[in-house]
Amino acid sequence: MKSSEMKRIVILISGRGSNMQSLLEGVASGVLNVGVAAVISNRPQAGGLAIATAQGIPTRVIDHQQFVSREAFDTALAAVIDEFSPDLVVLAGFMRILSDDFVRHFDGRLINIHPSLLPSFPGLHTHRRALEEGVKVHGCTVHFVTPTLDHGPIIVQAVVPVFDEDDEDRLAARVLAQEHQIYPLAVGWFVNNQLRIVDGRVVFDGAHRFSEALISPQGR
Ligand code: GAR
Repeated sequence: MKSSEMKRIVILISGRGSNMQSLLEGVASGVLNVGVAAVISNRPQAGGLAIATAQGIPTRVIDHQQFVSREAFDTALAAVIDEFSPDLVVLAGFMRILSDDFVRHFDGRLINIHPSLLPSFPGLHTHRRALEEGVKVHGCTVHFVTPTLDHGPIIVQAVVPVFDEDDEDRLAARVLAQEHQIYPLAVGWFVNNQLRIVDGRVVFDGAHRFSEALISPQGR
């Protein structure tokens, strides 16, 4: 594929950026045929910014604390994203609730990764809540973003076992390892036009089969 045809993504982060890093590694290794146009953080101190800069990716900080309202921040954020003309906006640990207008502006080209098997455990502290509920499997989800928090057509999920001796950190680490597997997969499917939304659900095209969108429970 010529670089002029290569799809462009913008990655939004708030923190350490390990999911962003897994995407950058996918690009660097040639597994993911996409251009990372920019990494944008709402927090100046986000550790992921240095990782992106070290890899030559343009970065921007739009500090939400500098804005009087959610809408004002979201408008400024959307304007900066638009400067990079991305085909896809990738939320990678971006810890902001997004306004309806923002979500609508990027309708169909805004995806998120969430550390639970949605629709279970939307919101925060997913691993703690999974342990409290005593679920035997847990995991992570990549989905298109809709105005409802942690909701929207599911692209891929990975499942991990929950062990009796787990604590929050152990479970989080097991899930995070799977997040790093499924986010590059989902971005690759999107940029290769292998998925579409039909009646609010993700449908895979061509030779790509749904069975690939399930990662089976694995060992510790
Ligand atoms: C990840 O576990 C991601 O799923 C979660 O934040 C973490 C960010 O880690 N996102 C959410 O909870 C969004 N609702 P990272 O900065 O190392 O990618």
